[in-house]
Amino acid sequence: MRSFKNIIVTGGAGFIGSHVVRHLVRKYTDVRVINLDKLTYAGNLENLRDVESASNYEFERACITDEAAIEAIYQKYQPDAIIHLAAESHVDRSIHSPLEFVKTNAIGTANLLNQARLLWDGDYTGKVFYQVSTDEVYGSLGASGYFNEDTAYDPRSPYSASKASADHLVSAYHHTFGLPVVISNCSNNYGPYQFPEKLIPLIINNISHGKDLPVYGDGSNVRDWLYVQDHVDAIDLVVHKGQLGETYNIGGHNEHQNIELVHNLCDLMDQRMNQPQGQSRQLIRFVKDRPGHDKRYAIDSAKVQMELGWYPHVKIKEGLAKTIDWYLDNKEWLQHVTSGAYQKYYDKMYKVGADG
Ligand code: NAD
Ligand code: TYD
Repeated sequence: MRSFKNIIVTGGAGFIGSHVVRHLVRKYTDVRVINLDKLTYAGNLENLRDVESASNYEFERACITDEAAIEAIYQKYQPDAIIHLAAESHVDRSIHSPLEFVKTNAIGTANLLNQARLLWDGDYTGKVFYQVSTDEVYGSLGASGYFNEDTAYDPRSPYSASKASADHLVSAYHHTFGLPVVISNCSNNYGPYQFPEKLIPLIINNISHGKDLPVYGDGSNVRDWLYVQDHVDAIDLVVHKGQLGETYNIGGHNEHQNIELVHNLCDLMDQRMNQPQGQSRQLIRFVKDRPGHDKRYAIDSAKVQMELGWYPHVKIKEGLAKTIDWYLDNKEWLQHVTSGAYQKYYDKMYKVGADG
């Protein structure tokens, strides 16, 4: 079991990153947790309001592609662990702006690795660079089978190809320079603080505003859904106990066709909003399919279960109910992220423009 003094979490203002930061700040009070984030449209410091004044929390605004900035932040905090989540993460955006994905996900990861090699300078004892990746690097499954750690990479979207490039660079730094690395590839997450461009929060948000529910193609694509706190628990285990140079697949054995999931959300929302059953389903619209839309993802997570004792705890029914409750109870957050008002929070918090 490794223990750390200073952990840098990249992308800590995003959906999964903010849950990771909150978890580490609260659980390891003697560890300094540094959130390194550029604050793109997906990064929102309001996600961390409840821990921002903790004495073991720090925030640094920087782009992971910026060599000088990353070098300075590494020098300042002397991290012994780097948990790397910063990424452009939405497949549909990667179809419109592929180069942004290559820059952040591939080049940004290369920069973080390179600066870690320079900082640690061969003294790797107790150090770890942890690449948080996705099951989408494995491509698309047919009706049967699962992705395991030996499945060949076969990415099909600019998002998954850029994440695959990053994973390969992480492995290359391990094999070539001995950098102490670990990688995990996780299935689709859901839960509080997810930006409402991803399927589950988008459907919840649209139902609450009586807007159409766009379902791509015929809705038969399958995703393996995992509640975000289960992923965070796995990240905690992998960073402390994962074998260096190894990959761990993380997933919930929780496969659903998109249309089935949307129906579930509609029914739960009708109950929660005291509407007649069936009302929300009337908003469903089948729309043009996503180009290159991966058919099915499903994870075999036997390795992380056997080696690290990780199991998912939150069942889909409970997870969706919690998620819906959170979004309906946090309308102000939703309003801020959909209007862009949250971007002002940084200026207020960090007094940009004040004091000259
Ligand atoms: P997100 O889009 O919600 O958050 C990404 C964060 O990275 C944001 O805070 C953003 O400001 C920051 N960021 C983006 N570009 C940056 C840059 N150039 N420099 C510094 N910071 C930058 O993403 P998420 O859904 O929380 O995913 C986090 C990580 O987990 C990603 O690496 C993603 O590939 C991986 N992952 C996500 C899922 C999922 O279902 N969401 C599943 C498996 C793996
Ligand atoms: P998404 O949440 O974007 O995650 P990913 O593409 O990384 O799996 O999409 C989940 C599934 O839902 C995917 O099959 C695409 C589909 N989808 C829709 O049908 N409609 C939508 O509006 C969105 C955003 C996604």
